[in-house]
Amino acid sequence: MSKVTVVGAGNVGATVAQYIAEKDLADVTLVDVVEGLPQGKSLDMLQVSPVHYHDRKIEGSNSYEATKDSDIVVITAGVARKPGMTRDDLLKINANIVRDVATNAIKYSPNAIFIVVSNPLDVMTYLTWKTTKLPHNKVIGMAGVLDSARFQTFIAMETGFSVEDVRAMVLGGHGDLMVPLTRFATVNGIPISEFVSKDKIDALVARTRDGGAEIVKHLKTGSAYYAPGASVVQMVEAILKDKNRLIPCAVLADGHYGLKDVYIGLPCVLGKEGLKQIVDIKLNDEEAAELKKSAESIRENIDKMNELLAVAAV
Ligand code: LAC
Repeated sequence: MSKVTVVGAGNVGATVAQYIAEKDLADVTLVDVVEGLPQGKSLDMLQVSPVHYHDRKIEGSNSYEATKDSDIVVITAGVARKPGMTRDDLLKINANIVRDVATNAIKYSPNAIFIVVSNPLDVMTYLTWKTTKLPHNKVIGMAGVLDSARFQTFIAMETGFSVEDVRAMVLGGHGDLMVPLTRFATVNGIPISEFVSKDKIDALVARTRDGGAEIVKHLKTGSAYYAPGASVVQMVEAILKDKNRLIPCAVLADGHYGLKDVYIGLPCVLGKEGLKQIVDIKLNDEEAAELKKSAESIRENIDKMNELLAVAAV
């Protein structure tokens, strides 16, 4: 029986817990500092089980003891963006929260694979890797699946074709400098340039880059959670079922794509060990330059965070 801990019982954490149970993937422990919140939400979710038919345990707790021996720990804890706030504004607040969560969670689940969702995503994933001291293949950030899902949604809306036939990958950091790979975006293998003009493709890319902010603008008091939650669960499923899925995730670049010492979205193979392999595909000059720019911006934020936390910089 697999066990997944989800830290943070806010909208993203609760959505992750719900999808994991309803897809019958694992038992779930939901942890939050707010008294009653994880208990209430998990009891409510448990009461879905006779309606949606699953026998998964869902438990809520304010203590990390309940997370003992988890196979996967998902970190969603932190503050979500408010309108006008960038992901980087969250850096200081969330670094302290994420460091605390990682320190506690690894004590009880030293063999777990960590999936990080808190923003700024790439930097928080790096911080979790440093804090847990796990091998880098066991600390992975979720952003590429979400950004790709947004791009795919917009391609389907524009072309009118089923999303089932739309494939696209977004690399780079989870921020304004993300790199949607338009050249490799297809409708069932046919490049989208066969169906959509260059100007329109540029507009789809821009909307994808602003995908998170567009939702924050509507919601006003928080950020997206259905698609982020579903995206995490796709990674959880790939790991628990050892599926060898090729999907973009935030991982430690170690010479890949000419990048080093930075967590950034790259094409990854996910399975039971977590990250099995980073797949090097040949990018053109423009794509490679965009990826480099994105990596530089993440690196700057890692340095900023290291100063803030006085964590030994690598
Ligand atoms: C988003 C936030 C969660 O992209 O980063 O919606």
